Amino acid sequence: MEGRLKSACVIGGNGFMASLLVKLLLEKGYTVNTTVRHLGNHKKISHLLALHELGKLRIFQADLTDETSFDIPINGCDIVFHVATPINFASQDPENDMINPAVQGVVNVLKACVKSKTVKKVVLTSSAAAVTINQLSGTGPVMDESNWTDVEFLTSTKPPTWGYPVSKTLAEKEAWKFSEENNIKLITIIPSLMAGPYFTPETPSSVDLAMSLITGDEFLISNLKGMQMLSGLISITHVEDVCRAHIFVAEKESASGRYICSAVNTSVIELASFLKKRYPTLYVPTDFGEFPSKAKLIISSEKLIKEGFSFKYGIEEIYDQCVACFKDKGLLKI
Ligand SMILES: NC(=O)c1ccc[n+]([C@@H]2O[C@H](COP(=O)([O-])OP(=O)(O)OC[C@H]3O[C@@H](n4cnc5c(N)ncnc54)[C@H](OP(=O)(O)O)[C@@H]3O)[C@@H](O)[C@H]2O)c1
Repeated sequence: MEGRLKSACVIGGNGFMASLLVKLLLEKGYTVNTTVRHLGNHKKISHLLALHELGKLRIFQADLTDETSFDIPINGCDIVFHVATPINFASQDPENDMINPAVQGVVNVLKACVKSKTVKKVVLTSSAAAVTINQLSGTGPVMDESNWTDVEFLTSTKPPTWGYPVSKTLAEKEAWKFSEENNIKLITIIPSLMAGPYFTPETPSSVDLAMSLITGDEFLISNLKGMQMLSGLISITHVEDVCRAHIFVAEKESASGRYICSAVNTSVIELASFLKKRYPTLYVPTDFGEFPSKAKLIISSEKLIKEGFSFKYGIEEIYDQCVACFKDKGLLKI
């Protein structure tokens, strides 16, 4: 299929990952339509507006909860990357703030794909949060694309941030159901925590979280520990590799199903010890008391690698680039 897909629509183009995806697609010669929630908010989309000079880019206004707002941006496109999702970890009402709009958004985007009659493939951005959360104990299980997060466990126990993994799991499941019923070629990419340099106006929340052991933000460090306790591990990927994986599966004829895209499996304590050694001049905490030193499980990207994808960045490059980016932006006190 390489070379034949020429026009793409990226849903949620101003986000951390999606804005880089738009950039890479334009650099590859694609014509790109993208959607944002607030077209009039130039401050929020300034980084996207700057991409006009790279190629044919059109920016539309659309909202996941607005049933027909995707019809025009998607019409005429060969491929749709559905990246946008409502993210609000502090929400008191995850059902209405995250879960319902995420599921409704999938249906609205896929309905527009059916109506278009031009879309050949849809690539949906899922999350490791839709795979790893369960009640298994002990260390060692390898999670792959056959695993799904246990929604019943999350909705009955409601641990902190439960709404996000539920929204990602139910949205991906809805995408599979709708695409099977409507004969849409769907592929899902399942990234772990994304880090790396960014050109969004604000620091992306996942980069802040990944950098918390270096910035010393106690609240985010406790969120990182919470992530290990809930997900079973800390897994990290360079945002550019996640974008490359999206384009890879879009262009690869044989690609099908779900693909985990994660470069590094680690734990909070192992990560802190790596960072301490690599950046001896930066303060990195090393005393975590009784906190579990090992991850409970690992996630495997073997399927993606066997398909022919190779990761460009490992843990060293991910953090070297994050640290350089934070220093450039004056976000790191040395
Ligand atoms: N970052 C990570 O570590 C990570 C890891 C695994 C998976 N993922 C998945 O990867 C994707 C991109 O993540 P990201 O970190 O790049 O996200 P992000 O920067 O927070 O971007 C999220 C995007 O979704 C849009 N959005 C939210 N609610 C919407 C609505 N009702 N209608 C239309 N658009 C809406 C946002 O628009 P506004 O700017 O207007 O709010 C924004 O463009 C998401 O699907 C996320 O679940 C992320």
